[in-house]
Amino acid sequence: MKKQNLVVVGGGSTYTIGMIMSLIAEKENFPLASITFYDTNEERQEKIAKASEIILREKYPELESFHYTTDKEEALRNADFVFVQIRTGGLRMREQDEEIPLSHGVVGQETCGPGGMAYGLRSIGDMIELVNDIRHYSPDAWILNYTNPAAIVAEALRREFPEDKKLLNICDMPAAIMVSYAGILGKDVFDLVPEYFGLNHFGWFTKVLDKQGNDHTDTIKRAITEDGFLPEDAEIANDPSWIKTFKQVERMATDFPDYLPNTYLQYYLYPSEMAQKEVSGNTRARQVINGREKRVHTLADQIIADDTTENVELEVDIHGRYMIRVAASMAYNNGDIFIVMVENNGTIANLPDDAMVEVPSMMTSRGPKPFAVGHIPRFYKGLIEGQLAYEQLVVDAYYENSYEKALQALTLNRTVVDAPTARNILDDMIEANKEYWPELHRNKQLVTNA
Ligand code: NAD
Ligand code: G6P
Ligand code: MN
Repeated sequence: MKKQNLVVVGGGSTYTIGMIMSLIAEKENFPLASITFYDTNEERQEKIAKASEIILREKYPELESFHYTTDKEEALRNADFVFVQIRTGGLRMREQDEEIPLSHGVVGQETCGPGGMAYGLRSIGDMIELVNDIRHYSPDAWILNYTNPAAIVAEALRREFPEDKKLLNICDMPAAIMVSYAGILGKDVFDLVPEYFGLNHFGWFTKVLDKQGNDHTDTIKRAITEDGFLPEDAEIANDPSWIKTFKQVERMATDFPDYLPNTYLQYYLYPSEMAQKEVSGNTRARQVINGREKRVHTLADQIIADDTTENVELEVDIHGRYMIRVAASMAYNNGDIFIVMVENNGTIANLPDDAMVEVPSMMTSRGPKPFAVGHIPRFYKGLIEGQLAYEQLVVDAYYENSYEKALQALTLNRTVVDAPTARNILDDMIEANKEYWPELHRNKQLVTNA
């Protein structure tokens, strides 16, 4: 098996140590020659990198080299795989993305609604620059992008790099949900085969089978509607916010029993309630700053101080394992089936060809080969078309620096709907993001003064 050279862009991410643990757990499936971290924030990356170096020394002695840098060329030369996990504006701007809508009575969320739009408008430029740089230094590398908001980033990258066949956008949420299905069934998550359709953070499982072809959908539905649903993956199982989110699956599966929903649909199906439950000063961004970020940094500090991992507990999570299994299936042409984002091109028969949809695909060395979904029923098609128009309008707004398109996008979003509210949120967001969107800021002045 050829050993891969892996670059992780956003080396300082709170997910990196989990990814390192997953690379160790998956070393038979995805053997590595080298790991290189790249980040624009030297200090943030260094803490994570120093801890990773110790973990790798103890648990991955076969690895030929580990390296971290803020020099793009040094990082991106000779990569076979590049995993991209950046956050333009950091958690500080995520907090703004969530607080601003909330101050207008609207859901404040990282990827859904106005928060997703603001984060998308910040991420697109950096992502385009990165893909160009990766292609310059490593033209044949596979790029696995899971930078959020993945739906909007994927749509922008589709427009910018239409011919790039080695650029894949991916999200771990369906897999994290499947970990809980596997728990219900007493099976390993990688023994399950999903049937699924939708957009990123906006989709449904229509069936859950195992590799032998047995259909477990009704067992799972019954378990969820009778006993409830809980997160089981290590990263989220003990997080009160994720526990609440998974509990909502019971309600969604009861209200709309056709299919099993992605957890993120709670924001679109119960927007008023979701907004009412949020508390200013303690949105999810603040919980992540005080929770995941603090936990990961404390863990890294301890590993560095002890110069060993002996005194800490390190966990493997589905996030890393999923990305790695997908990468391995493309590297070695395994043909495994995973839910990923692809250009529709008829996969969902009654949605536009150019939609970036999230569907099960066979992962091969020629990229994802999606399985046909066929026609989807009216309710789901209607929901998806509204969300798709929102996503595409956000990307239009980016390219055209258009205040009107951004306003249309927010007005279409199910978490907003009301046009004057959309305008108030947009105006506050443009102000908060003026260092990221100077043109939109200028264009807003023009619209306001007209
Ligand atoms: P984080 O802020 O802790 O980490 C992001 C890192 O990227 C930081 O160290 C930052 O300095 C660096 N960075 C920012 N801009 C950069 C650039 N242009 N080039 C190189 N490095 C840059 O954020 P996090 O919470 O760990 O999340 C990382 C990303 O992964 C986010 O976009 C998050 O939404 C995403 N994510 C996605 C999924 C999914 O299912 N798609 C799952 C988990 C995380
Ligand atoms: C899931 C989603 C990601 C999201 C992550 C963390 O894995 O698929 O897209 O970034 O959760 O969300 P949180 O709100 O806990 O930061
Ligand atoms: Mn996701």
